[in-house]
Amino acid sequence: MADILIIDDDPEIRLILTKYLNEINHMPMVVETLADGIDAVKSVDFALVFLDVNLPDGNGLDALTDIKNNGSEPEVIIITGEGNAKGAQMAFDSGAWDYILKPFSNSEIKLQVQRSLEFRESKRALKSSAEYILDRSGIIGSSPGLMSRLSMVAQCAKSDANVMITGQTGTGKELFARTIHTNSLQKENSFVVVDCAALPEQLVESVLFGHVKGAFTGADSNQEGLVKKADGGTLFLDEIGELPKSTQTKFLRVLQERKFKPVGGTKEIASHFRLVSATNRDLENMVEKNRFRSDLLFRLRTIHIDLPPLKDCKSDIKDITLHYIYNLCRHHGFENKGFVPEFLTVLESYDWPGNTRELISSLEKAILADSGSPMLYSNYLPNHIRIQYIQSSLDKKQKNPLITRQNPDSSRTMDLFENLFDPVKPLKQVKELAMDEIVKMYLKKLMQSAQGDFEEATRLSGLSKSHIYSLLKKYDISRSR
Ligand SMILES: Nc1ncnc2c1ncn2[C@@H]1O[C@H](COP(=O)(O)OP(=O)(O)OP(=O)(O)O)[C@@H](O)[C@H]1O
Ligand SMILES: [Mg+2]
Repeated sequence: MADILIIDDDPEIRLILTKYLNEINHMPMVVETLADGIDAVKSVDFALVFLDVNLPDGNGLDALTDIKNNGSEPEVIIITGEGNAKGAQMAFDSGAWDYILKPFSNSEIKLQVQRSLEFRESKRALKSSAEYILDRSGIIGSSPGLMSRLSMVAQCAKSDANVMITGQTGTGKELFARTIHTNSLQKENSFVVVDCAALPEQLVESVLFGHVKGAFTGADSNQEGLVKKADGGTLFLDEIGELPKSTQTKFLRVLQERKFKPVGGTKEIASHFRLVSATNRDLENMVEKNRFRSDLLFRLRTIHIDLPPLKDCKSDIKDITLHYIYNLCRHHGFENKGFVPEFLTVLESYDWPGNTRELISSLEKAILADSGSPMLYSNYLPNHIRIQYIQSSLDKKQKNPLITRQNPDSSRTMDLFENLFDPVKPLKQVKELAMDEIVKMYLKKLMQSAQGDFEEATRLSGLSKSHIYSLLKKYDISRSR
């Protein structure tokens, strides 16, 4: 819940705004005059102010700078019944977040509240990270999405609050968890990983809390658990959504008291650890279905870092690619390889459902596709990635009929895609047909670009002369200039 102020003399507007804000769990403070509004911002740290223009004791726009420059520097949304371009210009010049005309819709208000509060949070995080030099520990990229998450890592470094990291598979949850540890006060001590998905059901508690000799069959000596091993360091509970419900209850107590009893033991043991957890599951939904304890979720998520999917950070793909090509080439004992521009274009046009992990493994496949080649070409990448690139080029052309008309090949390609799927055939057959067509298109383009010169075609494609020759023969394509 954020601190929000409404300054408006119209009771109806006050009522509607309050109702909309209540629906998204905010309880605004309401005043009717400018003077009361200015008093209020001086005494409360508001995150957001709704400001009317025509107020009984003055013009809201005139007070905008005063309100914005108040200690908590709230975001301000102007609400006016008589909007005009000059007023809007003045509002934006003075740093208003938005200029909304009455009557407004519920969704318009909710969207702007959400956006302005998110903006405020990232501004705050950036500001605090600027004061701290972060050890990135191999996190590559500088897109706004990534930078805002790194700022949160910097924020984590200053406290030992519990952190929850969410995000799709392969987005870097474990990498971020390690980076939080590396930058924390506990960095000299252990970083203990517990993969909750891999814990055998009957042994969960023994693995976490340890056991005493004779606690169960096979427990022939005292055994320390992972929670104790993390004492003084960081405990990373990966895939926390997989923790059995009974263990959730026990773990909640550990979080509250930092004490626990090993299985079969009577003496309490203390462990002071920093907790980081991660999941790609929707824990809110699991709470609704009674599969995850809401009180535990609340405690785990003191700081919440939601990692963006790679497709939302396209500008990072180039840096990540350069970094991993270098590392992978070294790992496999190759000279560092370069890549043709199209290689990157194809990578940047793909959706990456497996995120950075999938990017890394695709780069590795490309590097190994022709170990002798000093350059990486897009045809070294897995087929499904290249097919999506072709599909997205076709979609663009379809949206722009001018391009389609200018290029007779593209209408043929569209026919191809229709023929591929209609009638529906076995997937294996569709893949083979698609691959054949792609290779044919590629070879035509290759020989065109190389102007029929095999040396040049070899250079461009990374294939050997004899390989190109046999492909041209197989697909009955002339090498004409
Ligand atoms: N921004 C990044 N820069 C460099 N490497 C990254 C980045 N993000 C992820 N990686 C790398 O991608 C791989 C996958 O990351 P990680 O294992 O942390 O993902 P995850 O979110 O835990 O995935 P999962 O949910 O499947 O367990 C790792 O090799 C990691 O080092
Ligand atoms: Mg992981």
